[in-house]
Amino acid sequence: MNNPFSYGGIVKGKTFCNRVSEQKDLIRAADNNEKLFIHGERRVGKTSLLKTVIQKIEKKRGICFYIDVWKCLDEDDFSRVCASAFAEYAFKEKRSVGEKLRTLFAGIAPSFSIDETGQPSVTLLRAHSNQTGPLIDEILKAPERVRAMEPDRPILVVFDEFQQIREISGSKLEKIIRSRVQEQQSVSYFFCGSRTSLLKKMFLKKGSPLYRSSGHYPIESISLNHWRPFIKAEFTTAGRVITSETITALVEATGGHPFYTQMLCSALWDITNDTVSASDLKSAVNLLLERENSAYTTLWSALPELPRKMLRAVATENPLFKPTSGKTVRTHGFASPSSSKSALTYLIDRDHVAQNKDGGYFLVDRFLGMWCRRNLTL
Ligand SMILES: Nc1ncnc2c1ncn2[C@@H]1O[C@H](COP(=O)(O)OP(=O)(O)OP(=O)(O)O)[C@@H](O)[C@H]1O
Ligand SMILES: [Mg+2]
Repeated sequence: MNNPFSYGGIVKGKTFCNRVSEQKDLIRAADNNEKLFIHGERRVGKTSLLKTVIQKIEKKRGICFYIDVWKCLDEDDFSRVCASAFAEYAFKEKRSVGEKLRTLFAGIAPSFSIDETGQPSVTLLRAHSNQTGPLIDEILKAPERVRAMEPDRPILVVFDEFQQIREISGSKLEKIIRSRVQEQQSVSYFFCGSRTSLLKKMFLKKGSPLYRSSGHYPIESISLNHWRPFIKAEFTTAGRVITSETITALVEATGGHPFYTQMLCSALWDITNDTVSASDLKSAVNLLLERENSAYTTLWSALPELPRKMLRAVATENPLFKPTSGKTVRTHGFASPSSSKSALTYLIDRDHVAQNKDGGYFLVDRFLGMWCRRNLTL
């Protein structure tokens, strides 16, 4: 039987563990035309959750537009990606495609073709030479125009990896998005991303164009009581035996983080046959640490001295609560609170370290944490 655990791609259906209350919350938010900024650390399962929610909303005849900002390098890319996503509505409905496209993009002369993957690809020109203002401003009116054509269906626009907007345009696109989104009272918007610190700056910092424009919704790791039946079922369906104690130890090792939990389950599956023992779990962890050893060594060697000290401090304290306290400064060899603070900022900005809801700092890559504790403790 193939290894049922997968990590790296989008998971759905049988391979998607729980998230029942998150799905309910997000579907309700979409039904109520809410604007939400959704954040969670890297690989915690945001895209998989959003895609599952979209699938359920579409089943109820809702209209969803999923826009991945990650691949956009400039405003022009963003305009095209948005236009293609909105245009899909006209293509999906099949009837009066041309008329629908002209309604969605009134003021722009859209020319569409279907590319080799079956996706609509779009070229946009101004319909009138006397028009001014950015094209994207016009394109972002499309969801409201869909609303006028579909008064009774829920409409949701999802921007994934939304923080990329700041990188490609400073705050220019955020200003345009804010004014368009504000006008669209009966369309729901989800702004999702993994660079939590940057997203918080965009949505929670006074003076930022999107400041307090949406509610915020954190995506956390999956709890042990949800992982337990999921992991047990995968092993027992294949006639294998795994105890609750082993599953508990496994989920404790990964903190329930979906990517690392699937990665460890997958390694454990590969090295066992009938019965999984506690020592098999240790072997699976060792296997992963050996596999990642060269990547972690390279990462460690490439870090400047102070961030290295902070990486080790966070890994050994696990989590680190007071990064600038006299005790942390003394114990971990910093010259001052400001040098420990700038080392921490360096690691947060590069997504190596994040903060949990109790305020403690931890290493995002759970295996890097284990590797540091094993190899770097003095
Ligand atoms: N509900 C889930 N059940 C089981 N595994 C999951 C679940 N959600 C995520 N995963 C695991 O985590 C991995 C990453 O998921 P996903 O790409 O959805 O996360 P993400 O937060 O969007 O990541 P990124 O920060 O890279 O955008 C998946 O490949 C899968 O192994
Ligand atoms: Mg994602």
